Amino acid sequence: MIEVSHIEKRFGDNVVLRDVSVTLAEGTVTALVGPSGGGKSTLLRCINLLEIPTAGTIRIGDKSLQLQPGKKVGWDAIQPLRRQTGMVFQNFQLFPHQTVIQNVMEGLVTVLKWPREKAHAHALSLLEKVGMAHKADAWPATLSGGQQQRVAIARALAPAPRVLLCDEPTSALDPELAEEVVEVLSRLAREGTTMIMATHDLRLASRVADQVLFLDGGVIVEQGAPNAIFQAPERERTKKFIASLNAGHSYDI
Ligand SMILES: Nc1ncnc2c1ncn2[C@@H]1O[C@H](COP(=O)(O)OP(=O)(O)O)[C@@H](O)[C@H]1O
Ligand SMILES: [Mg+2]
Repeated sequence: MIEVSHIEKRFGDNVVLRDVSVTLAEGTVTALVGPSGGGKSTLLRCINLLEIPTAGTIRIGDKSLQLQPGKKVGWDAIQPLRRQTGMVFQNFQLFPHQTVIQNVMEGLVTVLKWPREKAHAHALSLLEKVGMAHKADAWPATLSGGQQQRVAIARALAPAPRVLLCDEPTSALDPELAEEVVEVLSRLAREGTTMIMATHDLRLASRVADQVLFLDGGVIVEQGAPNAIFQAPERERTKKFIASLNAGHSYDI
């Protein structure tokens, strides 16, 4: 179980997340949708403590951390939770001076102290899973965006995180390259990977998500099954947002 309870995040006077609570059952996929600036990235970054929430509790499996205004949080408190997470970014963020397989092995060898051979074998099996084993020795710059993102997904999965956090994983990609990433994420979802994913891609969200959260102004305005949120939203703000996205896309959801 992954549980975010009563999270508040402020940057100075700006309250970016207000009393956000979400529960993710293991093996489910949650999509975060909503307008730019609504707080999607900040929520993901609060879950892995790249941003420290001002208040609230983050619980991932049997690890939890309670935050309070003015209470400093040290690395000892951050690390056990962050290790339960893997993160996939919009712009891939592969290490440019490492080959594909080195990118995937890096965390296993340097952080988890795995022997290189074991890390190599595990990295290769993950590259197979995302259809990138044939590029194991290639440099990131020689790959398409879709291929780089598939490698980034393998890297994020390497330490077997309890939850995969994806921040707009297809937003930087042309449609056909986005499709190959959607394929990989759909397969992971079917295999029971727990994911929380910020996305503007309603097709991706409706294909992989069990629940959708509509986040606007730092508040969860509405949440429910993809069909309910995308085809019969209840709140006015959700309706407007879904209509604006559909206006820009020709596919059916
Ligand atoms: N490091 C930061 N410092 C100050 N404000 C920030 C920071 N990160 C995000 N914000 C603000 O938080 C709000 C939510 O941003 P973000 O989480 O990136 O939204 P989204 O991902 O939904 O577009 C925005 O108003 C943004 O300007
Ligand atoms: Mg964002």
